Amino acid sequence: MSAYLVCFEPACRTRYPIDEVIYNCPKCGGLLEAGYDFTGTDAPALKRIWRERRMSNQPLDQSGVWRYRELFPFLLNVEACAVTLREGNTPLLNAPRAAQYAGINTLTFKHQGFNPTGSFKDNGMTCGAAQAVRLGMKRVACVSTGNTSASMAAYAAAGGLQPIIFIPHGNISYGKLAQALEYGAQTLQVEANFDQILKLVRELAERLGIYLLNSINPFRIEGQKSIIIEMMDQLDWQPPDWIVVPGGNLGNVSAFGKALRELKQLGFIDRVPKLAVVQAHGAAPFFRYAQQGGGSRFEAEVHPETLATAIKIGDPVSWPKAWLEVSSSGGTVEQATEQEIADAKAVIGACGIGCEPASAATLAGLKKLIAHQVVGAGERVVAVLTGNVLKDPDYIYRYHTAQLAAPDGTAIQPNFGNSPVVVPNDADRISELLA
Ligand code: F0G
Repeated sequence: MSAYLVCFEPACRTRYPIDEVIYNCPKCGGLLEAGYDFTGTDAPALKRIWRERRMSNQPLDQSGVWRYRELFPFLLNVEACAVTLREGNTPLLNAPRAAQYAGINTLTFKHQGFNPTGSFKDNGMTCGAAQAVRLGMKRVACVSTGNTSASMAAYAAAGGLQPIIFIPHGNISYGKLAQALEYGAQTLQVEANFDQILKLVRELAERLGIYLLNSINPFRIEGQKSIIIEMMDQLDWQPPDWIVVPGGNLGNVSAFGKALRELKQLGFIDRVPKLAVVQAHGAAPFFRYAQQGGGSRFEAEVHPETLATAIKIGDPVSWPKAWLEVSSSGGTVEQATEQEIADAKAVIGACGIGCEPASAATLAGLKKLIAHQVVGAGERVVAVLTGNVLKDPDYIYRYHTAQLAAPDGTAIQPNFGNSPVVVPNDADRISELLA
């Protein structure tokens, strides 16, 4: 068995066939992950092959995910199953102004918002959709704070699958909802929050035989490993000291940790960077869990609240994986207030880069980690911006025009505001104004 599913729980580790439709270990209920026999992996040869593929016109080589397919070999016939929109291929961007704001010498963003549907979800969804095709599934489903649903809708449409999405009514940005509608997903707005809907969707998936594409799906995690593989390739395999990422359902940081461990184990990199997760203050159960030093008790946030709706999650399913990855990397968990996120977001915008609110938690959190001397000003940091600036324009307009308020009603100050000015159609008056 060269590719298999395996229970993530160290005390269990039961293996299952790679094509079994399960999301949790039938024996102990633990999370599942994909495992492989990587014997014979030749790191220097693969590094060369992956570089050569950048010059290829083959769709799978052009994909910034499938280019690295040797590190997630769960399919027997990749060509027949892969659904690609040329995802990945996202840039590393230096941001001196954001570095100065955080109090660090240099800062690099890896901007996943450059993906086809504008978020990092595409890296995982291309693999999740491929597995759905391989299994002969007809319908796929997810609950989402917006980006997963936009991505799943696009990949399902491209792969000839029927997408059904469940979203918390009134709690996702219009940009994301609009994408799901445009890509043709059957869209159900449920009067409940993300955590409640996830339970509902899991029941429905089982009852109706619909394939679940939330990040509990191990193949999503396999695809999201490519964010790290591509990042290391772009850094010529010299790992940074820290990788900073926002945390919601905690699938992404789980994927990052798995990728880093595998890259180290296979000799692609010589050490694993520390992982820093940043949550929004009103939806920070993982932050509180880390503060108490981990353990077997994870206390969910029953009423998560944040304007960064992408990470408005109180009961993250992947917390056991995420904790293993953060703690074994020597990393940390931080939280950021609504004001801190909003200001950090405007600073990232002023760099000419821009991102959605959840992504800006990275810079807000990094600034605090530097102030607390957890991260040193001389260390090399890559922060992952998870979503595109156009995902939530309403938030941007409100911030810059001093109309943004936190969920508890507190006004958010536009400390880096840039309000538009209404002027008469008069060259003299406008010249005066601009002088
Ligand atoms: N950033 C953005 C822009 C997101 O959309 C999400 C998650 C995260 C960060 C957090 O990632 O869940 O892997 O810790 N959005 C999910 C969704 C939950 O439904 O789109 P995570």
